[in-house]
Amino acid sequence: MSKKIPQHPESYWRDSTNAITSKQLEKDIKADVGIVGGGITGITAAYLLSKKGKKVVLLDAGPLFNGTTGHTTAKITAQHGIVYDSFIQQLGVEKAEQYYKANKQAMEFIKETIDQEGIDCEYTVDDAYIYTDSDKKIQKLEQEKEAYDKLGIIGELLDEIPLNIPIKKALKMENQAHFHPLKYLNHLVQIIQQNGGEIYENTTAIDVEYSDHQHIITRNGHRVVCDHVIVASHFPFIDGEGFYFTRMYPSRSYLMAFEPEKSFPGGMYINAGQPSRTIRYVNIDGKDALLVGGEKHKTGQGKPEIEHYEAIEKFAQDTFGIKNYLYRWSAQDLTTLDKVPYIGPITSDQPELLLATGYRKWGMTNGTAAALLLTDFILGEKNPYAEVFDPSRFHAQPDIKKFAEINADVAKHLLKGKLEFTGKSIEDLKEDEGQIIRIKGKRTGAYKDEQGKVHLVDTTCTHLGCEVNWNSGDRTWDCPCHGSRFSVKGEVIEGPAQKPLTKYN
Ligand code: FES
Repeated sequence: MSKKIPQHPESYWRDSTNAITSKQLEKDIKADVGIVGGGITGITAAYLLSKKGKKVVLLDAGPLFNGTTGHTTAKITAQHGIVYDSFIQQLGVEKAEQYYKANKQAMEFIKETIDQEGIDCEYTVDDAYIYTDSDKKIQKLEQEKEAYDKLGIIGELLDEIPLNIPIKKALKMENQAHFHPLKYLNHLVQIIQQNGGEIYENTTAIDVEYSDHQHIITRNGHRVVCDHVIVASHFPFIDGEGFYFTRMYPSRSYLMAFEPEKSFPGGMYINAGQPSRTIRYVNIDGKDALLVGGEKHKTGQGKPEIEHYEAIEKFAQDTFGIKNYLYRWSAQDLTTLDKVPYIGPITSDQPELLLATGYRKWGMTNGTAAALLLTDFILGEKNPYAEVFDPSRFHAQPDIKKFAEINADVAKHLLKGKLEFTGKSIEDLKEDEGQIIRIKGKRTGAYKDEQGKVHLVDTTCTHLGCEVNWNSGDRTWDCPCHGSRFSVKGEVIEGPAQKPLTKYN
């Protein structure tokens, strides 16, 4: 138990899971389906396909659950912020309904799977609320409620919520849920292996080639030869000429787990405005605890990341009182042009190469929906929700506007990073601190570790050449253009970059 916010980020889910480990791929191998990515999408798809008798091979660049799935709030809900009204406006009622039903089906699937497989993962039914304390957002919530009515979603507009915080209006969606995501997925991993599926960790997929079959190529030169490939690596590790880096933007948000002073009345909450806030209950080692988070911002941009953690801490202290600090961590999410994930063939002429990405902050249900949809696709079965998620879709509204906005922002940061002046030098660095400095005129990332050793990297991102910035919250180098992230030694933590930053001595 700590009376201070933990110095280093660590996800409670990861820390409390005895994850099954697997070795590296050290030979060429054949499968029916090769899956890249050991998060909720990849593992659920591997579970479903292996149950249907398909031979699956799943690769992960690091250990399993190390991506966004291991850093989620783990709400199982179809209430994804205020979205249904804008989906109806922009995509039409039919597609808005497809989105809702796909997520509802995913919720039901998770519950059924937990029951059928007897998984002990703290699954708890709870109501979900979007609340606002701003007059300006009241109308938005009322419009969202009208959208619920059009789509047959049971919802209720409220003037009060169980939580004792000042609000002007709230919208409730009943009977949603939360769970321990890694206890759930770890159990599925066991079943995949019992069904003959193979999992390889610390095996980075870098390309896919086609000759007779699909060949997934790994960094150490091995191949997975298969009929279908599922790219579930969060940011797709191959682009397949789908230009996904121009059609999504990355953002980061923060979570803190603590024992509150005040008792918690139940419910899962998000606010309707900025800065974003999210709240849910979790039982940690038999104690009542809360996960409180938010502070969403574009990766590599804005104020120092540590200030986002501090803002969450202040909100938690003011709202609940903090008895003990337990954990803090952060997550990266990808948002598409129309806020609907891309799930399906990477391009319309490559039906054996499938991807799932862009879940915004709602990966538990969207990721499960993706696994169900891609499994149907591979088995040749019709999925009623495929159309809304088709990665090749393009809507004049809102896509053109958002596309221009995302890529203008990339161009701005590409230039800004190159021109930025920094007057800092190595001597200015404190322990456990990173800074951009100039060495012989070259922009250089410098981090001094707790033993006083300085690690230097070239700050030019190996994806498309933007300049990375120091992340003071998580001690990483983050790219403001498409969200690649690198360790203090330059290793890739998060794509689209595949190569490490150049290290200097
Ligand atoms: Fe694209 Fe860095 S992630 S340039």
